[in-house]
Amino acid sequence: MKLVKLLANLGYGSRKEAQRLLRSGAVTDDAGRVLKEGELPPHERILFRGEPLDPPFPLTLILNKPDGYTCGADDPGATIYDLLPERFAHRNPGLNPIGRLDKDTTGMLLLTDDGKLLHRIIHPKSHCLKVYHATLDRPLEGHEAALFASGELMLNGETKPLLPAGFEALGGNEALITLHEGRYHQVRRMFAAAGNHVINLQRISIGGLKLPEDLEAGDWRELTPGELSSLFR
Ligand code: URA
Repeated sequence: MKLVKLLANLGYGSRKEAQRLLRSGAVTDDAGRVLKEGELPPHERILFRGEPLDPPFPLTLILNKPDGYTCGADDPGATIYDLLPERFAHRNPGLNPIGRLDKDTTGMLLLTDDGKLLHRIIHPKSHCLKVYHATLDRPLEGHEAALFASGELMLNGETKPLLPAGFEALGGNEALITLHEGRYHQVRRMFAAAGNHVINLQRISIGGLKLPEDLEAGDWRELTPGELSSLFR
């Protein structure tokens, strides 16, 4: 791969803009030597305006999604891409959320440019369970655990029953729900089927990875290799 193509793929600009950036001396090696179009030192030695170049493919991020942001790059209004550096929206291959969250759902969202990893995580056979903390409008009635575990719960407008889901009452109007799959508005629709209403929903873990306590709402970082493998534990 040429340096121009690498810069363009990382979202620093179109090929033309990348060429211009190179000619302007914006890209150097870690010894401060301006890089030319034909060169390609090891990725970790390349600097853009003195800062390390963004990580190459494959890149996986963890984001603590705040309330009020949608997950589609082309959605109107605030999107999760507004929380990342602008150029991340122009990477090729693009960064996609691994299982979207509703606009008003908060918590752990993973984004990756690695299609294979994405499919591995969302496939029910991988047993990468997603755990949600739900706060409900009304007290729990006691029938929820059996209903959700039944494997027979059919959501409105669907033809296939839900896979059995885990349920743990936390007291008051709160519960943990564990899902093997990710259907549209699934947790909200499950509680609607149980005669309740979700007023707050947060995803707190995926597989063996918990939402890190030090990751504030709106913050993100690259997933570490250890965190990546803990997803499948
Ligand atoms: N279930 C929902 O209802 N919403 C989400 O965002 C995630 C799971």
